[in-house]
Amino acid sequence: MRTFYITTPIYYVNGEPHAGHAYTTIAADVLARYHRIKGDEVFFLTGVDEHGANVHKAAENAGLAPQDYCDKMAPIFVKLWKRLNISHDIFMRTTSDMHKRGAEKFLTALYDSGDVYKGAYEGHYCRPCERFVPEKELTDEKICPIHKLPLEWLEEENYFFKLSKYQDRLLAHFHDNPDFAYPAARRNELLSVLDSGLEDISISRSSVSWGISLPFDPEHIVYVWIEALMNYMTALGYETDSEQYRTFWPADVHIMAKDISRFHALIWPAMLMAVNLPLPKQVVAHGWLTKDGEALSKTRGIVIDMDTDIDTYGLDAFRYYLLREFSFGNDGDYRPARLHARYNADLANDLGNLLNRVLGLVNKNFEGIPAPTTPGEFDDEIKEMAQTTVDKLDDHINAFAFDAALETIWEFVRRINRYIQQTQVWTLAKPETKPRMGTILYNSLEALRFISVLISPFIPETAEKIQKQIGLSAFDTTAEWGRLPVDITVSRGDPIFPRVDTKQQKQTQPEKAAKPKPKKAEKTTDLVSFADFQKLDLRVARILAAEPIEGADRLLKLQVDLGTEKRQVVAGIAEHYTPDTLVGKQVIIVANLEPATIRNVESHGMVLAGSGDSVVLATVETEMPLGTQIK
Ligand code: MSP
Repeated sequence: MRTFYITTPIYYVNGEPHAGHAYTTIAADVLARYHRIKGDEVFFLTGVDEHGANVHKAAENAGLAPQDYCDKMAPIFVKLWKRLNISHDIFMRTTSDMHKRGAEKFLTALYDSGDVYKGAYEGHYCRPCERFVPEKELTDEKICPIHKLPLEWLEEENYFFKLSKYQDRLLAHFHDNPDFAYPAARRNELLSVLDSGLEDISISRSSVSWGISLPFDPEHIVYVWIEALMNYMTALGYETDSEQYRTFWPADVHIMAKDISRFHALIWPAMLMAVNLPLPKQVVAHGWLTKDGEALSKTRGIVIDMDTDIDTYGLDAFRYYLLREFSFGNDGDYRPARLHARYNADLANDLGNLLNRVLGLVNKNFEGIPAPTTPGEFDDEIKEMAQTTVDKLDDHINAFAFDAALETIWEFVRRINRYIQQTQVWTLAKPETKPRMGTILYNSLEALRFISVLISPFIPETAEKIQKQIGLSAFDTTAEWGRLPVDITVSRGDPIFPRVDTKQQKQTQPEKAAKPKPKKAEKTTDLVSFADFQKLDLRVARILAAEPIEGADRLLKLQVDLGTEKRQVVAGIAEHYTPDTLVGKQVIIVANLEPATIRNVESHGMVLAGSGDSVVLATVETEMPLGTQIK
C-alpha cells in the first residue's frame, strides 16, 4: 500500500487561529482526504508550536504560567479544526513528552555530526520571526523584510549550525528534484537565496527560558524554529524508532504559506543531511489570504469573519470558496460577496438543483433507481467524461491546483445538467419511452454518485448528503462507473444548499465594496413599448479571452465570439470574476449598443449581469449556438 504523510505548519499559540491558518489546514485536509479515497495509507499532522519568546510573552500578558497558557490555547485550535471538519491523525503539541524526548535525540545526533559549534552572536533580531535577519536582507532602515517592524540589536553566546557547509548539496538537491520546492516561484526565490550564499545559523538562545534545553549544554535553550521543525519526525515516534516512524518518514508534503518556506526547504533539509536522514519529498508554499488587499492583522482590524460566513453559508460553502476562488501559489483576497456568488451559482444552482431535479424525476416516475436498459444518445459521452474527469482531477491535485480541480468537476456537473436538458428526459414518461427515461435517470444518478466521490475531499458533508439522498447506506468512495445499485430507494431530502437570505447576509457582512446600488426599477417605472424592446439586439456570445485593464480595478477587457464576428467589450465585473474563470463561458451581449471608449479601451457592446449584493453573469440555461438572439 502506498503511504502519504502530509503536514501543516505547527501554529504559534501566541494568538488565536484565523482564516489564514484555516486556509492551509483545509488545503492539507483536502490532500489527506483525496489520498485516503485513492486507497493510500495516510498520516496527516497538524498542531501547535508552544515554545519561544513570543509565546512566553503572550502568557505573561495573559497573567498565566507558560504551560497553563499553552494548555488554554491548544484546545482553541482543536475546536476550530473540528468545526472546519479537519481529518488530522495527530494534533501535535511541542510541550508533549514525546516531542521533548525526540527533539533531544535529534539535537544530540546533530551535535555528534560535528556540525554544531559555539560562538558569539550579535545582529539584528526580529522578535515576531524569532530570528536574526542576515546582513544581506537588511535595509538602511533596519526593518524586518517580512513584518516591516524595526529590528532589535541583540548580542548573545550561541550554538551555531554549519548551514553554509550544505550549500552545494542543497543546490544539487534542488536541481535533481525540480518539484522539491513548489511552486516554481518559490523554488526560484529559494534558488536565489542559495546562489547568494548561506550563512551558518544560531540554533540556541541564552536569553530565552521557555523551551527545550540543549542536551549537550543545558544552560542554552534550543531556538524555537529548530525545535519546531523536528516535530514532523518526533510526532511519528522518531525517539523510539517506532513502526509508524519507519512507515511514514520522510514526509510526502510539508504545506505552508510562503513566509516560512526557507525554514522548510533550506534549513530543515540541511539539518536532515547532517544527521543522515531522508529529506521530505516536497515543500509546498501557497500565497497569503488577504482582506481588502491587506495582510490579516487583528491589531489593525484586518480580519476575516469566518464564523459569520460559515453560519450564513455552511462550512462546505466556505471550504469550497477558499479552494475554488484562489489560485494556490498566489495571494488571494477574501470577499464575502464572492462567496455569496459562488454559493448561488456553483453550489445551489449547478449542483443543488441538479440533485433536486434528478431525485424529483425518479420519485415521480419510478419506485426505486431504474435499471439502465435502454442506451441512447450522449450516454457514452457522459461515461467517458466521468473517467476523464477523474484523470484530470488527479493531475490538478498533484499540482496543488485546487481551483482547476474543482472547475474540472463542475464541468462535469454542468454537462449532466445539459444531458438532462438535451434528452428532455421529463417528456419521456409515456410507456414506450419510459425505459429510455429510466436509463437517463440511472446515468444521471450514477453521475451524481461519481460527483459526490470527487467532491468528497473538498466538501465532505455535502458528498455524504448526496449519497444519502441517492439512497446509499454507506459512503461509496469508488470512482468507477456503473457501481450504483438499481432498485434502491432515493429520498428527497432538504435542499443541500438552501437559499440564503441576502438581507441577513447584508446585515452581518458590512462590506466596503458593497455600496448600495440605486434601485433602477423604482426610478424608471415608465413602461416601454414592445417595439422599443425589440430595438435591443441581445445575443448569445462566448468569452474567448479576459484581461484586467490597468488602473481600472473594476473593469475587465473581454474578447467575445458572436458566431458571425468577434468583438471587444469592457465589463465592470473585475471585483466579482477573475479573468481565468470567464474564458469559455456563454454570456448575453447587447450587440447593438453604441460603441464607447472606457478608460481608453474600446467597447463594442455590453455584457448582461444580475447586479445586486453580488454580480452574476446572465447566461442561457444550456449552451446555444453563438449569435442566437434572445427575445
Ligand atoms: N510556528 C511557526 C511554524 C513552525 S512549522 C515547523 C509559524 N507559525 S504561525 O502561526 O505563524 O503560522 C504560519 C503559517 O500560518 C503560514 O505559513 C500559513 O500556513 C498560515 N498562515 C498564517 N497567516 C496566513 C495568511 N494570511 N494566509 C495564508 N496562510 C496564513 O510560522
